[in-house]
Amino acid sequence: MSSSSTFTPDHKLDLFFPADLISPQVKTQLHPDVHVRPLSSTDYHRGYLSILSVLTQAPDVGYPAWLAQFNAMRASPNTYFPIVIVSKATDRIVGVGCVFIERKFLRGLGSVGHIEDIAVDKNQQGKKLGLRIIQALTDVSEKSGCYKTILNCSDENIPFYEKCGFQKKENEMAKYA
Ligand code: ACO
Repeated sequence: MSSSSTFTPDHKLDLFFPADLISPQVKTQLHPDVHVRPLSSTDYHRGYLSILSVLTQAPDVGYPAWLAQFNAMRASPNTYFPIVIVSKATDRIVGVGCVFIERKFLRGLGSVGHIEDIAVDKNQQGKKLGLRIIQALTDVSEKSGCYKTILNCSDENIPFYEKCGFQKKENEMAKYA
């Protein structure tokens, strides 16, 4: 897909989850040059992996494998809520994020929302796109009934998440394979 592709409206896309789950208030506050919506099954072609690579390694796995992962994740309903921010001028993705809803036995069968994989195109940072992604995902988490929404981040991103209304709690432990 070229960088001059025409913007594709939501109703022409195969979306991961219904678009009306995204907060209308966040849509109103979003920068006018961009649009926020659920991930679509063709977003591989709109630069999804290249935006994720702003965050970490996101090698090109090819469209068939990417689509198989999209479908495998969507087969667990009400669990993954990946969203994207798209440039209206280019139809390319400029921001991404996801909230994963974890169901629990504690707190009377409570749920926790895990915000994951937030990234904004380097050229688009500072336009409050990251803030809007976090607000939209937190809203999905809260509407899903989660008693808390949590995430892991580097020390340098703590001020960003504080501006999004999050507070530092406890520590992260990791063991890489
Ligand atoms: N340090 C201090 N303040 C910051 C930082 C920072 N690193 N980043 C953003 N802010 C502030 C902004 O100045 C702004 O403040 P203001 O309201 O006073 O103007 C506020 O936070 C909101 O900033 P946005 O414009 O919404 O931030 P942006 O769109 O640039 O996105 C993000 C921030 C997502 C961290 C972006 O810089 C990015 O993609 N970084 C690389 C990838 C990354 O680190 N992702 C997060 C990983 S953690 C996770 O995925 C759970």
